[in-house]
Amino acid sequence: MPPTHRYTGLIDKYRDYLPIHDDTRIISLGEGNTPLIRLNNIPKLLKKDINVYVKYEGLNPTCSFKDRGMTMAITKAVEEGSRAVICASTGNTSASAAAYASRAGITAFVIIPDGKIALGKLAQAMMHGCVVMQIEGNFDAGMSLVKEVADHAPVTIVNSINPYRLQGQKTAAFEIIEELGKAPDYHCLPLGNAGNISAYWMGYSEFNQIGVVNQRPKMCAYQASGSAPFLRGHPVANPETIATAIRIGNPQSWDKAWAAQKESQGWFDEFSDDEILRSQKLLAEKEGIFCEPASAISIAGMMRDVTSGKIPEGSTIVCTLTGHGLKDPDTAIKQSAKPPLKIKAELNDVKAAIERNLKM
Ligand code: F0G
Repeated sequence: MPPTHRYTGLIDKYRDYLPIHDDTRIISLGEGNTPLIRLNNIPKLLKKDINVYVKYEGLNPTCSFKDRGMTMAITKAVEEGSRAVICASTGNTSASAAAYASRAGITAFVIIPDGKIALGKLAQAMMHGCVVMQIEGNFDAGMSLVKEVADHAPVTIVNSINPYRLQGQKTAAFEIIEELGKAPDYHCLPLGNAGNISAYWMGYSEFNQIGVVNQRPKMCAYQASGSAPFLRGHPVANPETIATAIRIGNPQSWDKAWAAQKESQGWFDEFSDDEILRSQKLLAEKEGIFCEPASAISIAGMMRDVTSGKIPEGSTIVCTLTGHGLKDPDTAIKQSAKPPLKIKAELNDVKAAIERNLKM
């Protein structure tokens, strides 16, 4: 059999739309090309005629959307001769930076908030052998340190203030347009440091500008109530939320996110930790899709806005699921309604358990 087309990552696929030279050495782990899954059961529960898709970014190589930006940031850092990269992170950026730096053969330094990082993300950073610096402070403190230290040490910043990150991340919008044959009417996503909303808006706008589509979605971005600077209108000093990925009080892409919201005529909204966890569980139980708590806020937002009619029936909606549920096993297990049944290793006991628990 002749070899079929082998997918080699998003830089290779979208090189015409990215700042890449023909001879650039690409650092890739096959990121991108993630599934756009149509939801079946949640729209039925809502009793609304809507087309909802989730962009399951948890299926990237390190299980979050960060890989889209990191393949670009590390590729360009290596091209420019950098031997080391640094980032502050609530977890996913550090996991991704660690993996891509390993792949490139350079050193990654990651600054993470003490005790406020999901276990899976810490495991990834440690496993890839980067230098993990756990600070007595939150993400925002880490971000300030990173910006300061980059002026004094030979390290390239790979947070989303690095413009190549957004270039890579914009490709998610390209993939959605290619699969739907149009831009969605609404795009729902979590909002933390605000890189992703800025990147999606850039991607949708570029394809609109060159005439691939003639419409852009309304951008609907959601924050955790304890960590909602965009809802308050100013930075928040001590952000708190169970969705540790978006526990950010001083977002770096502040102006870009406001521009995306205004130009798209979209909106920002906020959700309690309980609402976030309930939507995470609902998606897992009703659709078979496991995302991390921060990602589930896009489902919470879509449901609220569809129910209220703010998103009208007939709409096509895409929700980004930014990270995989296995990133944060502790939170998943703690909120699970059904702990494992403890039964004897005997046929009758197993049969009885099946009869008691069959779904009608
Ligand atoms: N969802 C997940 C799972 C994230 O990890 C992040 C950000 C966001 C949403 C928010 O995206 O910052 O572009 O608005 N995580 C960063 C990190 C801050 O360090 O991993 P954003």
